[in-house]
Amino acid sequence: MVVDNIGLLVTNDASLGEGPLGLVRDAAVVMEDARVSAIEPTGAAGDERIDAAGRCVIPGFVDSHTHLVFAGDRGDEFAARMAGEPYAAGGIRVTTEATRAASAGELTALSVARRREALQAGITHLEIKSGYGLDVEAERRSCEVAAGLTDDVTFLGAHVVPAEYEGRADDYVALVCGDMLAACAPLARWIDVFCEEGAFDAEQSRAVLEAGRAAGLGLRVHGNQLGPGLGVRLAVELGAASVDHCTYLTDADVEALAGGDTVATFLPATDFSTRQPYPDARRVLDAGATVAIATNCNPGSSYTTSMAFCLALAVRDMGMTMEEALLAATRGGARALRRDDVGHLAPGARADAVILAAPSYSHLVYRPGVPLVAATIAGGRPVS
Ligand code: NIG
Repeated sequence: MVVDNIGLLVTNDASLGEGPLGLVRDAAVVMEDARVSAIEPTGAAGDERIDAAGRCVIPGFVDSHTHLVFAGDRGDEFAARMAGEPYAAGGIRVTTEATRAASAGELTALSVARRREALQAGITHLEIKSGYGLDVEAERRSCEVAAGLTDDVTFLGAHVVPAEYEGRADDYVALVCGDMLAACAPLARWIDVFCEEGAFDAEQSRAVLEAGRAAGLGLRVHGNQLGPGLGVRLAVELGAASVDHCTYLTDADVEALAGGDTVATFLPATDFSTRQPYPDARRVLDAGATVAIATNCNPGSSYTTSMAFCLALAVRDMGMTMEEALLAATRGGARALRRDDVGHLAPGARADAVILAAPSYSHLVYRPGVPLVAATIAGGRPVS
């Protein structure tokens, strides 16, 4: 198949075109067996042809942080927050109650619908966490639902201490590191922990991450979301693939990120929705660290599948250029998941692309709130 007549193609490969986005004008992308086989000038031949009509084509977004598997709604909590209530980690328990009560069929249908919404917003690859089950069977079931939708499943039993373990956090950590991990590890690629006041302290987080590593999982951390803390430095010390949120960073955190290979993943829609300050991404980029941007789609702190919205916030409020933001939401997301098959459109990459209803990627930021995804192509096939 050929996507032809592309006015402006973003390859994300500097060796293929202009600047860090590897821009090619008047191009065609040839796709075969779900992979990109060539980048050619407009007019390339193929069995099937999609006409991009001179518009801009970008690599599909890679969303490296989502919590799509949940039941229930927290619209009231959001409304209260907009009226001045602060965000607190404890809201997770509300979703846990609804998720445990849902049948397997309901949970699957809700998650499939959200995955579909994300695809239509141009997200062609995503990570999905468990974390709203918080008992052995409900966590296993969440991982199973997630595994039906992606090969980047993250076990997040250590999301918060559930109500029945109130005052016994260490006992809950033992469960997470024992029976829960044993039930979930075969379904997951990653383990994650919410290292934050109100969730798990650094010592508990270390225990969870080390147990996950011993079970063969890669490491991810929720860190420095609601205040300064040890999450970022713990993630770098243990060689986590990514530390996510990074809203409150000290000089020591930035230095650690710059010196390690842990990706700093920003979740700006969360800071929007919880009324936290936006992180200074400029400072992290200038220090030389790798950054990603993800949606953090979840019912409590960021109920959106719009990566375009995240890009607009990152450029408007976090000091990123449009090019840096787009790279962070594609190639950066892939780096945060330690993948090189997605996030770019060079020969050999997965044939995941988005045709924008715009002449340039800059419109993603310039026209906030406007649905600019004209078509999503995933694995070489248009998504209907
Ligand atoms: O990434 N920080 C922890 N977990 C989610 C919030 C989940 C919730 O409030 O339900 C997050 O923001």
